[in-house]
Amino acid sequence: MTYPIVKYGNLVLETPAETVTEFDTPELHKLIEDMFESMYAAKGVGLAAPQIGISRRIAVIDPSAGEDPQKRLVLINPEIVRVEGTQTEEEGCLSVPGFREPVKRGKRVTIRARDARGETFERTGEDLLARAFLHETDHLNGKLYINHISMLKRDLIRRKIRKRMKAGDWE
Ligand code: NI
Repeated sequence: MTYPIVKYGNLVLETPAETVTEFDTPELHKLIEDMFESMYAAKGVGLAAPQIGISRRIAVIDPSAGEDPQKRLVLINPEIVRVEGTQTEEEGCLSVPGFREPVKRGKRVTIRARDARGETFERTGEDLLARAFLHETDHLNGKLYINHISMLKRDLIRRKIRKRMKAGDWE
């Protein structure tokens, strides 16, 4: 099942998500499958549960955008363990469509999370994957990438979004 993507302005995106306590349930596996499906349908490489209106600490990432099933990654209750170096690249978000801004992030990031069965694992990613770890963990903490850009740029984006909301071109 494909969920619609929740857009900026919906409070679920700015609310810290709930820790997952039950693992390996049919319901959890189904939700994760639906999250991948929704992410691919929206042509994203990462999706956090709040972006489909579900305030739980679950994110899915696939840097291959559906090309390579082995690149699929499920992060439940993720925590950033280590951040090294910096990179500045353009970043966007399915919940803020039509905008991209350069964002300074760590270059090499280690994350600790649980998988769908509840097993704890650590992964280190670089570049795009490092960025995805930080971007998706931010989502679960109620933060969007526009929190990392200048106030001036953020206000400009907000104004443009408000215009689109009024025009019925948002939601
Ligand atoms: Ni996002």
